Amino acid sequence: MKVTFKIQGTEKSVELNPGERLLKGIYKLGLDELGMGECGGNCVCCTCHVYVVEGADKFPPASEEEETMLDTAFNLQANSRLACQLVVQPDQEAVTVQVPE
Ligand code: FES
Repeated sequence: MKVTFKIQGTEKSVELNPGERLLKGIYKLGLDELGMGECGGNCVCCTCHVYVVEGADKFPPASEEEETMLDTAFNLQANSRLACQLVVQPDQEAVTVQVPE
């Protein structure tokens, strides 16, 4: 399944399998070099904050833990999620996320 990250005016795409977290896409694309995914997916850093612009309906709702962490995010929006908490679903066709400025 194709996951596209829109970041700093560009788009970077990566293939992920069902069961894999979007955080893996961050690492595969080298976005961790820009400071994303600092806590390694432990839901304690918020550096994987993204806006889900396509495919959001397939993801389960955010857990209480994710919601609590998101409350500390800058520029929180209705479609804000933490990439480390988003697991690719078997019936998902594509996901596009925008990385906040
Ligand atoms: S990688 Fe730290 S909260 Fe997602």
